[in-house]
Amino acid sequence: MKKILFVASECVPFVKTGGLADVVGSLPKCFDKRYFDCRVIIPKYLCIKKEYTDRMEYIDNFYMEYDGKSQYVGIFKMEYEGVIFYFVDNEYFFSGSKPYGDILWDIEKFIFFSRAALSVLPVVDFRPDIVHCHDWQTGLIPVYLKERFHEGEFFRDIKSIMTIHNLKFQGTWDVKTIKAYSGLPDYFFSPDKLESYKDANLLKGGLVYADAITTVSKTYAEEIKTKFYGEGLDGLLAARTKDLRGIVNGIDYDEYDPNTDKFIVNRYNAKDYRKEKVKNKKALQQELSLEVNDKKMMIGIVSRLTDQKGFDLIAYIMDELCQMDVQIVVLGTGEERYENMFRHFDWKYSNKVSANIYYSEELSHKIYASCDAFLMPSLFEPCGLSQLMALRYGTVPIVRETGGLKDTVEPYNEYESTGTGFSFVNYNAHEMLGTIRYAHSVYTNKKREWNKIIDRAMAADFSWHASAMKYQEMYDWLIG
Ligand code: ADP
Ligand code: GLC
Repeated sequence: MKKILFVASECVPFVKTGGLADVVGSLPKCFDKRYFDCRVIIPKYLCIKKEYTDRMEYIDNFYMEYDGKSQYVGIFKMEYEGVIFYFVDNEYFFSGSKPYGDILWDIEKFIFFSRAALSVLPVVDFRPDIVHCHDWQTGLIPVYLKERFHEGEFFRDIKSIMTIHNLKFQGTWDVKTIKAYSGLPDYFFSPDKLESYKDANLLKGGLVYADAITTVSKTYAEEIKTKFYGEGLDGLLAARTKDLRGIVNGIDYDEYDPNTDKFIVNRYNAKDYRKEKVKNKKALQQELSLEVNDKKMMIGIVSRLTDQKGFDLIAYIMDELCQMDVQIVVLGTGEERYENMFRHFDWKYSNKVSANIYYSEELSHKIYASCDAFLMPSLFEPCGLSQLMALRYGTVPIVRETGGLKDTVEPYNEYESTGTGFSFVNYNAHEMLGTIRYAHSVYTNKKREWNKIIDRAMAADFSWHASAMKYQEMYDWLIG
């Protein structure tokens, strides 16, 4: 039995701010249980719902030296859908209302978490063959493992993988501070190790020391070796190209299934969507006080409202877009200027635009199920899960050809009658608008063609099956 430990800062269903949580929550249960014992460790945040904390079992506690103080480390455990989860408890670090806050505080918190997560392993008697680390919050773990954490036999030869979900965030602060929190000696703070442009960089530590590096799509794996997408680490990633692979994300096909979805008004599938899907649209139009009209093309957006997602393009053409016969439904939170931009257009075109500036699992499912098209014009996109959810619900994605969007949405070709969505290449607002107009004309004038796009979208397979196999192959290759 090969033992794998996932270490991450968020995980569905316990705590989620974005796609990272979806991946960490859904991938471990897809491994072949005959050969892989994959467990997960995350912080025990105060914001985890009581329905889950009630089911956690207290295991043990100990004190750990951290930045000159002795810090409590509690260990909780829970089995959920066949996977064992461990939770690191410490009320000082994990009691916020959200997992993330101020960056310096996050750095202090996640270095604590990384060290605690490794220290927990001998106590729970789980010695993984591979520690699979996700994003900057866990970047020091490969470093600690190479440093043979606390000496001794236990940690000898444990391998590590660093998965990049988003290279934009690296956990960077001055060397002095990170040296103090990490407890690592001077040796590690040179430009070929943790130092990056004079500061210390946690993700870089992971990328230098991990035995293998992955990211969440093939295209992003190539892009990050270039200056534009490389966020200052393109040189390092190019140097490690032999150890870097892109494995596209999947989504949880049980959780996101229009045929069984508990959040939607009317369930449907690939056979009956022509009649049934539209009932969700009418219900949502009513719920959001939009004009109830099944002929209006409804475009959905579910997203963190950040620059990454291309909202400056949308802001630029929103007035023009609203002259078209469309409805726009937005669900998201994030940067204030984008929140206010959508609130403004909701006010200006109240029967056409619905801005829902909050977080809601339920409304997100309703949007995936109700809309005709789903807009995601990202500046960069490591993988993107929202477009996969849209495909699964027969909601046609309109995307920019970057990262995982390029790998998962096949552009419609009207001559060959192929494709699962619409896409454009350049980061240009009018190129995007042209693509939306084209999609709108197919939707309005060539309904049969539109439905064939939906047929192909719903037939595409973005369950975890194929990608979980690729991770398994990588684990086998690493452990030998
Ligand atoms: P990212 O991880 O960059 O935010 P992804 O497309 O990989 O982008 O994943 C986003 C996930 O977060 C999806 O599951 C999406 O449905 C969800 N999501 C984003 N914003 C909201 C929101 N306001 N309410 C509910 N779910 C949201
Ligand atoms: C990140 C990326 C997103 C990806 C997700 C899960 O948040 O922005 O593209 O789908 O991680 O890997």
